[in-house]
Amino acid sequence: MTTVTNPYLQGNYAPVHEELTVTELAVSGSIPEQLCGRYLRNGPNPVTAPDPAMYHWFTGDGMVHGIRLRDGRAEWYRNRWVRASGVAAALGEDPKPGPVHGNMDFGANTNVIGHAGRTFAIVEAGSLPYELTDELETIGPCDFDGALEGGYTAHPKRDPQSGELYAVSYFWGWGNDVEVSVIDTAARVRSSRRVTMGGSVSVHDCAITERFVVLLDLPVLFSLEAVTEGATFPYRWQDGYHSRVGLLPREGASTEVVWHDVEPCYVFHPMNAYDEPDGNGIVLDVVRHPSMFRTHLLGPSEGASTLERWHLDGLGGAVKEERLDDHGQEFPRVDERVVGRPHRYGYAVAVAETDDISGTESLLVCHDFERGTSTERSFGRGGVVGEAVFVPRADDAAEDDGWLLTLAYSPDKDTSALYVLNAADPAGEPQAVVELPQRVPVGFHGNWVPDRS
Ligand SMILES: [Fe+2]
Repeated sequence: MTTVTNPYLQGNYAPVHEELTVTELAVSGSIPEQLCGRYLRNGPNPVTAPDPAMYHWFTGDGMVHGIRLRDGRAEWYRNRWVRASGVAAALGEDPKPGPVHGNMDFGANTNVIGHAGRTFAIVEAGSLPYELTDELETIGPCDFDGALEGGYTAHPKRDPQSGELYAVSYFWGWGNDVEVSVIDTAARVRSSRRVTMGGSVSVHDCAITERFVVLLDLPVLFSLEAVTEGATFPYRWQDGYHSRVGLLPREGASTEVVWHDVEPCYVFHPMNAYDEPDGNGIVLDVVRHPSMFRTHLLGPSEGASTLERWHLDGLGGAVKEERLDDHGQEFPRVDERVVGRPHRYGYAVAVAETDDISGTESLLVCHDFERGTSTERSFGRGGVVGEAVFVPRADDAAEDDGWLLTLAYSPDKDTSALYVLNAADPAGEPQAVVELPQRVPVGFHGNWVPDRS
């Protein structure tokens, strides 16, 4: 008998099995008093043991981990599954009532955001957001009073001036269409447009500039063959697909998209985008994968994912690609105040190139694009760091005047910690480290949700 192992169920990818609420947290250093709010992070954590031969990392039930900071103290750590009906049933609970889209009731596992004073766990591909309480208990699924036509996305972009959320959502049942929505600061859907892509593509993320929504039409498509094979995430690379990037005017009609051809590749995450100060075009910084779900079908692992600067002329010319850093990296972020505007700094997680992902050490890498330099920070022997979130010291602070918040896992201690790093000196002594009572499995995305949001 052959035992099947799945790297996304091994090591710190393995799920944790308890929901904890812990108010006595060991802290070293000092937590800045300006940090009043919650650091939240979502990720897959199957509630029941999946079939290792079929488990896709993107399909594990969502679990949100949170650390509350206030008045220089770490008030609590909590972790909670997002109670989709299947998760509630597995935990012996009643389901949470609410809308379901496309018969896809799923515990959103990819990102968690604060918006309009509310908290939402979110995911792509058709399932609705789940709303959570401040303490991470599930309220129920949310379609924004019926205004969200289908599922949402894991990566809305908040315009720093208006506070509105721009999103590109996809669902296999919409054929080649994606939905571009704008949710206002009261969490109402202000506008919704359908844009036709070249196929039924998986659009994980988008970007905005002050003028455009940036659409990624790249060769990972819904696959009936994958469905037939029983794939839980039925999207596959398609050779020969016409790869392109579209610029949709922020308030324009769907027909106004200007498309720009690009060499075949896959982009989960733009770092940021902004309008060229002179001319029609934009600059788009992305993490570029040479391919995706072509040979590795259970998770994202197909060669070095490099940081690139793409130049689009806004007139339909081919994308000009410029390599910024050829080291493998992912989870790019910028200061939320410069989303859609020129950025000087960017943050990412650098990973070693290996198929043995379960024991892969990772580093935080902080790019200074003005100087053309980067600073790396290690988290100890075998330490694994997650996406970093920048929090400014004050609303009008300079772009690197604040802190980077991120979770890091120590294999020696088999536990995780919340690091608060000084953004101007990320490799230096941490501002604070909050020790957590358990490990936080490798996951996806998180955010700082200040109390005043
Ligand atoms: Fe993502």
